[in-house]
Amino acid sequence: MRDDVAVRDGKAAPSYPMRRGCPVDPPPQLAELRAGPAASRVTLWDGSEVWLVTAHAHVRAVLGDRRFTAVTSAPGFPMMTPTSQLVRAQPKSASFIRADDPEHSRLRSMLTREFLQRRADEMRPMLREMLDGILSELVSEERGGGSPVDLVAELTIPVPSRVIAAMFGIPAGERALMEDRSAILIDRGYTPQQVAAARDELDAFLRELVESRIREPGDDLISRLVVDQVRQGALDIDEMVPMCRLLLVAGHGTTTSQAGLSLLSLVTDKNLAASLREDPELLPAAVEELLRFHSIVQNGLARAATQDVQLGDVLIRAGEGVVLSLSAGNRDEQLFPSPDTLDPHRDARRHLAFGHGIHQCLGQWLAKAEIEEMLAAVLRWMPGVRLAVPFEELDFRHEVSSYGLGSLPVTW
Ligand code: HEM
Repeated sequence: MRDDVAVRDGKAAPSYPMRRGCPVDPPPQLAELRAGPAASRVTLWDGSEVWLVTAHAHVRAVLGDRRFTAVTSAPGFPMMTPTSQLVRAQPKSASFIRADDPEHSRLRSMLTREFLQRRADEMRPMLREMLDGILSELVSEERGGGSPVDLVAELTIPVPSRVIAAMFGIPAGERALMEDRSAILIDRGYTPQQVAAARDELDAFLRELVESRIREPGDDLISRLVVDQVRQGALDIDEMVPMCRLLLVAGHGTTTSQAGLSLLSLVTDKNLAASLREDPELLPAAVEELLRFHSIVQNGLARAATQDVQLGDVLIRAGEGVVLSLSAGNRDEQLFPSPDTLDPHRDARRHLAFGHGIHQCLGQWLAKAEIEEMLAAVLRWMPGVRLAVPFEELDFRHEVSSYGLGSLPVTW
């Protein structure tokens, strides 16, 4: 199915997503499409055709335009994967990421103060302590002092998981189920039935957690939602469980993937490592550039037009699906000169890696704090860090919604 092409108006609509050539660059066809009309027809896995938008300005325009909906049951909404049907069948289960305003902002606003930049910064001492604990153990003589370690297994998977578990007040012993089931939800390698089963198990776990906080609130995000919202009648448990699952799923695999690829750049790009060693103050700008460069939400964001919209030279009709390619927008030379070069000195803050508009990533400050702290800790504890296998042997995970590495073996 993936290599099929559909024909409309005598023109073939290429299959989407396209395959990458170089594993750290988006598929080369995206640059060709960006040079053409504001939107191009592409064919999804199920044979349906949607619009693909690739230029930075047009991606931003659509994401900032209320005439495009994020509700999956809307006519024409792109079904990006076989499991998209699951979400379509139970739209409330996806929480506010798949809702429009005012419903979206009613739920999102209950969480905004938990995810402010200041709150993320307050977590840094805890993050540093956690990272120093992990890395001091990794570089110890008992671990073979210099023999290869896998930074994905040891760092980029456990750190975001421990952070969200700490925010939710989940004890260490109960993290495994949460990690395992949320990983299934973002991996395209599972059947819709397996995904549904994982989602149900995760929901049962979260429901129990919420109920325990209703009985006895503590000092964590879930307890604050219970006290401030549930007890006031503003939120019920059936809304709260998908909201908590959204935070777990949206925040875990994404941060793991972006941190893994950022660490890959750190160990393979001499300019990046040298620049950060010379000027540690460069770290926040470098992390923005790494977000732009890697754009891990690799297949982009889906929306549907609820009215006819003129986008540049293309008329998108009500009821047509649109896919916004964040990776193509982030390599747009109109905004980022020499876009395929990773340049920690550039101002990359207008990147689209966290989306744009009302759904722009709620957890972006937290994600950036985690990635900055992971990079800084690796530089601190592993001064001569380098790949322990040839680049060609790295295990890039193409079939997941957040592009990333299965493992990152390094030595130092
Ligand atoms: C939304 C990317 C980390 C929570 C989004 C969106 C993107 C994104 C592109 C927009 C989705 C859309 O418009 O349809 C990322 C990346 C991350 C990351 C690249 C890591 C590098 C996190 C973290 C959390 C989080 C750590 C929280 C723990 C959310 C939530 C939404 C969201 C709740 C929905 C916001 C809304 O609909 O209003 N993220 N994210 N994300 N993200 Fe993130």
